[in-house]
Parts: sequence; C-alpha cells; structure tokens
Amino acid sequence: MTDQSSNQMWGGRFAAGPDAIMEAINASIGFDQRMAAQDIAGSRAHAAMLAATGVISDSDAQAIREGLLTVLSEIQSGSFQFSTALEDIHMNVEARLKEVIGEPAGRLHTGRSRNDQVATDFKLWVRDQFDAAETGLLALIRALLTQAEAGADWVMPGFTHLQTAQPVTWGHHMMAYVEMFGRDLSRVRDARARMNESPLGAAALAGTSFPIDRDMTAQALGFDRPAANSLDAVSDRDFALEFLSTASICAVHLSRFAEELVIWSSAQFRFVTLSDRFSTGSSIMPQKKNPDAAELIRAKVGRIYGANTALMMVMKGLPLAYSKDMQEDKEQVFDAADNWMLALAAMEGMVKDMTANRDSLAAAAGSGFSTATDLADWLVRVLGLPFRDAHHVTGSLVAMAEAQGCDLPDLTLEDMQSVHADITDDVYSVLTVENSVNSRQSFGGTAPDQVRAQIKRWKALV
Ligand code: ARG
Repeated sequence: MTDQSSNQMWGGRFAAGPDAIMEAINASIGFDQRMAAQDIAGSRAHAAMLAATGVISDSDAQAIREGLLTVLSEIQSGSFQFSTALEDIHMNVEARLKEVIGEPAGRLHTGRSRNDQVATDFKLWVRDQFDAAETGLLALIRALLTQAEAGADWVMPGFTHLQTAQPVTWGHHMMAYVEMFGRDLSRVRDARARMNESPLGAAALAGTSFPIDRDMTAQALGFDRPAANSLDAVSDRDFALEFLSTASICAVHLSRFAEELVIWSSAQFRFVTLSDRFSTGSSIMPQKKNPDAAELIRAKVGRIYGANTALMMVMKGLPLAYSKDMQEDKEQVFDAADNWMLALAAMEGMVKDMTANRDSLAAAAGSGFSTATDLADWLVRVLGLPFRDAHHVTGSLVAMAEAQGCDLPDLTLEDMQSVHADITDDVYSVLTVENSVNSRQSFGGTAPDQVRAQIKRWKALV
C-alpha cells in the first residue's frame, strides 16, 4: 500500500491530512478490495448510462469504460497498488482510473455517491454468494440422494434422546437431511429474489438532479428493478442479514449432520466409514482415523452465526440513511460466506465418499428393544387391547428380556404368554426390524416404498 498525505477526493475542504489512527480506523481497502470486480462493473454500467442520458459525452464514457477494464486487469494480475490513504475500493479504483485516462475520470462520479456505490457493489457480491450457496446445496442434496437410493431399505436404529427408539432406514435418515438442505435452498432462492433491486442512482441519500436512468443501470447489472426509495436503498443491509441468517440456519443443519458423522464413524458405532480423503491421522496414535472435516463443519456455525449477530448489532438503532457503521458489514459477510461455501463443499465430499456399513447398521437396528412399539401395536391390532394396556404389557416383556439379557424376538412364546395369555406365535412376525420398517407406510414414514417415493420427488426437483 502506498501513502498520500491528503485525500485527493475531498482535499478542497481540508487543510490537513488524517491522523494515522484515523486512517487506520477509517480504511476498508484491506478487505473491500474483494469487491473490485463488482465496483468496476457498477461503474461501467453507470458510465454507459450517463452517456445514454446525455449527462456525459460518449467519448468520455468510452474512455472511462475502457480505462476501468485496464484497472480491473491490473487488480486481477496483482500489479495494482492499493492505497490506505484512498480508504476504500471505490476511491482506489477511481484514483487509478484518473492516472490511466486523465480528465474524463473525474466525470464518472456524476449523479452517484459512494453510498449507493457501496450498496450496489456489496449487493452484487452477496448475490454471487447466494448463487454459490445454491450450487453447493444442490451438489450436497444430490450426494445425499445417491446415498439414500443405495440404502433405501437398509435398516438402522432410529433415535430419540440418542437412545434406540424404532428402526428406520438409512435412506430415510439421509432424506431427512435432504429436507433440511432443501429448505435452505428455498431460503437462498427466496432471499436472492428479494434482494435483487438496484441501489445505484440513489446517490448520497436523496437521489440526484441529473436525468439518470436507473432502470438502465439496474438492467445492465442483472437487477430486476431499481430500489424504489433512495433513503432505503443506501441504508438497507437486509440482504446481508438475510444472507447471514440463511447461512446460520444452514450451518446449524451442517453441524447436526457433522455431529452424527462424528458419532457414526466412532469405533463404538461403526455405522459409517469416512474416506481417507476426508479424514486425518494422529501424530502419536497410529490406529487413529479422525473425522476432522466433520468436526470443523460442526464448529463453523460458531463464526457464521457470530457474523449474523455482529451485523444485527451493527445495524440496530442506525438512523437513516448511510452511517459509516455500515462499513463493518463486509468482513462479517466475507468470512461467513467463505466458511459456509467451504463447509458445504466439505460435507458434499464426505457424503460422496463415505461408506455406510450395512451390517453394523442392521445389527444395531435390532438391539435395544427397537421393535417394542411394533409389539404394542400388534397387541392393539390383533388382541384388541387399548394402547395404554398394550404399552404396559410390552413394558413387562421388555423388562423380562432385559433381565434375561436377550432381545424381544429371543423371548419364548411361554415367556410371552406368562405376561399375556392370548399372545400367539404370530407376534414374532412384527418383531423383525425389516417388518417393522416395512409396516411404516404412512406418508413420510420410514418404509422403503415411502422413502423411494420421496427420492423420486426430489430427483425431479434437483
Ligand atoms: N467504505 C465505505 C463503506 O464500506 C464506502 C461508503 C462510504 N461513504 C461515505 N459517505 N463515507 O461503507
């Protein structure tokens, strides 16, 4: 970074340059240079519009538009010298444009302000990230669908309180996450559609007296329309807040799944084997294969939700319109976006590569009296017991099995009949986990038929 003593953008009003501390707290170029491409796209659209409306000449607009491409290539090649004294990406680009094309550069900032400029740049940046999140979510959902399809009828224990509850299918469990990430996808699309209004031309806060064409710049930048209130346009950061809250909810989903993968890949569970490509070893314990990617994904929600909280607090109580507080929006969003995309990609990679251990899943599915509810349902259906009585009878049978150190299907018919005399041989048919899951045919239930129907529906959507 180079240094300049007084700001060339507003030097006329100032006798002295800023204190070094002032410069340090004020400058955003250290991070907002990530919006260089968006800044230049916005300026090129603005210049073209100024020429089309007769505010500047065609030749000036052409010089500006070409000069901006030169500046962009300097930034992309790494040869651009960013200056802290020039505070932010907007003034860095404009100052360099002046060096490249001379006098016409001074006409670019007609009818606009850095306030609408930064809102435009930032919106364009966040919009790209919504699109990246959409791509990442679609890839993750597809990876989950592949897992679900392969094991649509593989049995495993379903848990409540992390205690064995009832058998479910692997496909059903995978599809639960498809539903979650599917809602994230819909939030992403919804927020992206809502944010797609152009702030450009709102100028500092009140609009401008120049005969600008805001529809033209909106269209050139891929916005659906210009934002309808100039005060709101420059002070709105809802799009960033929605991005962060959408990211936060998705990060919660990612962390829940990551936690399951950590548990499932442990020696005590062995439900899944994570690939070497998404595991790490230990420098001291040779036997170890650690689920580091899952753990890091589990942790990412901390910083992503932290960013959400931070920006909410920045925006709280800000009077209209622009205040410099809003410069604090970018680092939070940049960090959250980077980590969200990384977590999505890492989860997709893990899901694609992991192997579900069908035998371990099946063995665990039958343990822990997982078909006790099926037994109670049988007593209701076949013997006509009220469910509460059936629950009690089944509870006694579970206690008996526990005392004998066996599972429910291992109890003899005499054992069963000692608790309720009318129980017949037929009861054993409902005590297998396969019959248990096959019987759960209610819409959205765990029966393989139901699971396959949902897989089919989702495959048509993604
Ligand atoms: N760097 C500033 C930001 O990120 C740009 C807008 C500055 N506007 C102003 N009136 N000082 O918000």
